[in-house]
Amino acid sequence: MTCMLFLELSVVHTVAVCASPTDKDLPDKNEYTKEEIVPIEVTHVTDTNKLADQAKRLPPGPTKLPLIGNLHQLGDLPHRSFQHLSDKHGPLMFLQLGSIPTLVISSAGMAREVFKTHDRIFSGRPVLFAAKKLSYNNSTMSFAPFGEYWREIRKLVILEILSARRAQTFQIVREEEVALMIDFIALSLDPVNLSELTLLLTNNIVCRAAFGKKYDGGGGVYDIMCESEELLGGFCIADFFPWMGWLNKLNGLETRLEKNFRKLDELYENVIEEHLDPTRPEPEHEDLVDVLLRLQKDSNQAIGIDNEKIKAVLTVSVLVNR
Ligand SMILES: *[C@@H]1O[C@H](CO)[C@@H](O)[C@H](O)[C@H]1NC(C)=O
Ligand SMILES: *[C@@H]1O[C@H](CO)[C@@H](O)[C@H](O)[C@H]1NC(C)=O
Ligand SMILES: *[C@@H]1O[C@H](CO)[C@@H](O)[C@H](O)[C@H]1NC(C)=O
Repeated sequence: MTCMLFLELSVVHTVAVCASPTDKDLPDKNEYTKEEIVPIEVTHVTDTNKLADQAKRLPPGPTKLPLIGNLHQLGDLPHRSFQHLSDKHGPLMFLQLGSIPTLVISSAGMAREVFKTHDRIFSGRPVLFAAKKLSYNNSTMSFAPFGEYWREIRKLVILEILSARRAQTFQIVREEEVALMIDFIALSLDPVNLSELTLLLTNNIVCRAAFGKKYDGGGGVYDIMCESEELLGGFCIADFFPWMGWLNKLNGLETRLEKNFRKLDELYENVIEEHLDPTRPEPEHEDLVDVLLRLQKDSNQAIGIDNEKIKAVLTVSVLVNR
């Protein structure tokens, strides 16, 4: 499994972590969930003297070109490029990605330093163009800046969404969907495309767990989710050259994002409306939307959970679990 993480540290803005399957001293790789393959940011250092001092002590890394830094060294699969470069420059490597100074962490020991020993310094996330929009102004656990709000939303997500009890509730859903897939394979006379089937399987499980129903035949909903995923994972010039953000208007990225966001928002609106419908039969198990709507009514919550927050949590839960 390869895992990537972006962090920001005082001068150095972003950190990418790649843990490879060959990482012998990585005790339990399962600790790295997809939830962690997200950007994290920290404080900015405003003291320029301190900046200059620290700049002299940057970790090793490949030579950089003016303006683009090391961007040209990243291929279509950035995690692979990180891995290759790290093999040469060590488990703590410095890259300049456009105007974003970046640290690449690629050993379990170094990752431990970042996540356990110095977690306070590294906690935080850069605000990325697509992620900000699709997470409703970065109001989810994965994208919110470190602080009171993040602490509360994290507590809520851990207690209510990622709990063992919740995972157990959805076990039935998983078993049912896997059984359906096996039946389909058993009954199929033609060769089956397993990639396609497993993709459909995860989609169905995630939709049932989150929205309480699946969308048969793939179609619209899955296309929206694929597009969101692509936008979240894609290259965006404004994330590396903030001063060139206007280019997103010209290259169509902003329009694409806006369109995808509207579709996603409409989907959530419909799902929330369905759940609020008084004639809806009482579900056997709460789905994610039920949980979030229940929390919305709960006045003991430290943060107000409006519909936007519900949608933001859904975006991350649905897309990250796919
Ligand atoms: C995000 O914030 C901006 C400015 O504060 C606001 O105009 C916009 O409507 C917000 N977007 C969402 C989805 O909440
Ligand atoms: C999202 O990031 C912006 C900075 O771009 C910040 O001003 C805003 O407070 C963040 N939103 C939340 C909900 O933390
Ligand atoms: C199987 O499905 C995947 C995913 O949809 C697709 O990329 C691939 O081309 C398909 N393979 C065949 C042999 O049709």
